[in-house]
Amino acid sequence: MFLQFLIICLFTMAVRGTLVNPFYRSKPGCSAMCGDIKIPYPFGIGNDTGCSLDNSFYVTCNMSESPPKLYLGSSNIEIYNIFDTELRVKTGVSYRCYHSNGTVSSEFSYNWTSLSTLTFSAKNMFKVIGCDDYAVITGEGGGDYFSSGCIGLCSKQPDALTRRVSLRQGCCQNSISKGLQFYNVTLNRFRNNPDVSSSSSSNCSLAFLSEEHCFQFQTNHADDWDLRDRIESNAAVVLDWVIASEQTTNCSESNMCKDNSECYDVHGGGYRCECKEGYYGNPYLDQGCQDINECEHPQIYACHGDCINTPGNYTCTCPLGYVGDNLKSRFGYCERQATTHSKKLGIIFILLGVILGTGILALAIWMSKVVQKRKEKKRRDKFFKRNGGLLFQQQTSSGEDAIERTRMFSARELQKATDQYNRNRIVGRGGQGTVYKGMLPNGKIVAVKKSVLVDETQVESFINEVFLLSQISHRNVVKLLGCCLETEVPILVYEFVSNGDLFQFIHDESYEFPTFWSIRITIATEVAGALSYMHSATSIPIYHRDIKSSNILLDEKFRAKLSDFGISKSVMGDQTHLSTLVKGTYGYLDPEYFQSNQFTEKSDVYSFGIVLVELLTGKKPIYSIGPGEMRSLATLILSMDERLILENIDDRVVSDGPKEQLIAVAKLAKRCLNLNGKLRPTMKEVATDLEGIRSSSH
Ligand SMILES: *[C@@H]1O[C@H](CO)[C@@H](O)[C@H](O)[C@H]1NC(C)=O
Ligand SMILES: *[C@@H]1O[C@H](CO)[C@@H](O)[C@H](O)[C@H]1NC(C)=O
Ligand SMILES: *[C@@H]1O[C@H](CO)[C@@H](O)[C@H](O)[C@H]1NC(C)=O
Ligand SMILES: *[C@@H]1O[C@H](CO)[C@@H](O)[C@H](O)[C@H]1NC(C)=O
Ligand SMILES: *[C@@H]1O[C@H](CO)[C@@H](O)[C@H](O)[C@H]1NC(C)=O
Ligand SMILES: *[C@@H]1O[C@H](CO)[C@@H](O)[C@H](O)[C@H]1NC(C)=O
Repeated sequence: MFLQFLIICLFTMAVRGTLVNPFYRSKPGCSAMCGDIKIPYPFGIGNDTGCSLDNSFYVTCNMSESPPKLYLGSSNIEIYNIFDTELRVKTGVSYRCYHSNGTVSSEFSYNWTSLSTLTFSAKNMFKVIGCDDYAVITGEGGGDYFSSGCIGLCSKQPDALTRRVSLRQGCCQNSISKGLQFYNVTLNRFRNNPDVSSSSSSNCSLAFLSEEHCFQFQTNHADDWDLRDRIESNAAVVLDWVIASEQTTNCSESNMCKDNSECYDVHGGGYRCECKEGYYGNPYLDQGCQDINECEHPQIYACHGDCINTPGNYTCTCPLGYVGDNLKSRFGYCERQATTHSKKLGIIFILLGVILGTGILALAIWMSKVVQKRKEKKRRDKFFKRNGGLLFQQQTSSGEDAIERTRMFSARELQKATDQYNRNRIVGRGGQGTVYKGMLPNGKIVAVKKSVLVDETQVESFINEVFLLSQISHRNVVKLLGCCLETEVPILVYEFVSNGDLFQFIHDESYEFPTFWSIRITIATEVAGALSYMHSATSIPIYHRDIKSSNILLDEKFRAKLSDFGISKSVMGDQTHLSTLVKGTYGYLDPEYFQSNQFTEKSDVYSFGIVLVELLTGKKPIYSIGPGEMRSLATLILSMDERLILENIDDRVVSDGPKEQLIAVAKLAKRCLNLNGKLRPTMKEVATDLEGIRSSSH
């Protein structure tokens, strides 16, 4: 009865499967896979088959097991995966059991001193599960000795009525030093806790090595043996591998690094090879590393303008007549040179004016300024009338009073707020414009969206956004504070949302905030709620039409705010779809809409499904699986069963995402991605399902 609910423990789940650098190929002519485990060279199947670099890298694949299993050399140590510097193998659990008739114990050791290429990674932790038990780990590697220990203590026998034990009771973990090649474990018991030693129940203590990042584990009825099995079949030990043999253990003596790769010595012995920057391939294979044609992978190597591949790099230039900035970043852009040209001309004019500052000229300038001011005012009036007119048209055709609810800003007010649209104030670039951070005279921080290129066709989309957003009032939709109609293309003013967007949250490695599962599922639920509201609760249904992670903003409390309604549409009366030119973002586009040009509410559901999969897997909607090979997230998830889905879950959510929730969300995503729109759930059903899944953890 005792250990039964004591075992709320933290341990690792093995990251199994196919998350291998796609550029790490096997040797030509050798098996590349064992089941779904990739075997990159220098590893290879079979002793003396020439597929592995030498005997220390040979592995065995047993195809008669299902799924096929991979073993280290001729041993029975199962390999879960092989990465470019490390591999994961099944862990061994030491245990000591106490029976009424005496003691049974088993200790465990690993000895890899004969394979000079493998060492235990410092990513592993030494873990002990038990009450009143301690374990000692002794190890050595590269001539150094290491020893450490861990004590599992339970302060009190848990109250059988409340059945609550504080987290980590009876559990302990400790780090190990890097470079160990051998370890053994000894388990023992203090016998000073009467609750435990006199108890007839708590009888086994366990100790093992496994990767640090953990997930919560709770068992209510499993007995100790069951737990040991579950650890052995779920926890992995991380091993670092290096190239090493007796004679050549560092780069200067001899190295196997092929063309376009670099050799680096590994602290503690051995060396590894790495492709030079801008090259891909397997640096240990004869063909060496090849130049990446970055221009073919715009999703990874951004280029605004014309892209030219160069060895190891690529260049980006704006087309003739355009100038730009940050061409290789996500925020880069090219703009018509004319604008800067005329600015320069203006400066020269003013300089000339100063130099030739005669009274007549001054007078002339003064006069021209007056004229210009008048012209400027006329222009503003003209734009205001046209833009306001368009908005007015939209609202009269719908019976909504959009203008009434929208605050009008003057062009000058917004110029001041954004420090003349200072580049340093840029916080993002949407489909139709640049977003600046601005401060109103009353100190309120706002986001100001301005079109980059002056383009008549954008007027409509900006007006459209004003109109739609002024009708939506939902806490998970970005709030439109007002707009400025005095400019050629209207400028929109929103509430400022401080924590970037969901794209950065998932894919940007420099994103500085936690990206836990609990936050992710909350975001998903909120976005689904907002979409469900737009589809069914507003007076006229509104389709967003450009759902993607970069259009979901996050505020300081990581609440989701749906944004960018530039191409959204409201649907009148009993219309069920819109026939339009296909707009949206590649990767998120509903294939059915792409073929039929008919946008239905289920097309938003599809795009939302892609966002769900992004949240689960941490992959981009279109991602590269090798040179010239791109894969879409939708095809990936649709081809997967439960087990494969769990293997492809983002490492960062594995630690706190309950397995049932992850599976449930993956299943829901699959339904959203059904190729037949009619079979997809409605946004309302999706929102309800997500709410249910989210609350299932409590
Ligand atoms: C692998 O082959 C080598 C050379 O034939 C042999 O010395 C070694 O014992 C073999 N190892 C195993 C595990 O079969
Ligand atoms: C492969 O696995 C099967 C089934 O577990 C087992 O019977 C067989 O002995 C294994 N073969 C080798 C070479 O280990
Ligand atoms: C004690 O009991 C366990 C199971 O109850 C058994 O496996 C073990 O062999 C026994 N040990 C001795 C020394 O009798
Ligand atoms: C590990 O194995 C090697 C070779 O099999 C042996 O020489 C060495 O003594 C072993 N080390 C320990 C600590 O058992
Ligand atoms: C564990 O290894 C150390 C050396 O690394 C050795 O001194 C000790 O005897 C070993 N213990 C057991 C139980 O094998
Ligand atoms: C642990 O103790 C319980 C209760 O005495 C007993 O039923 C169970 O068989 C024991 N487990 C082991 C592995 O000895």
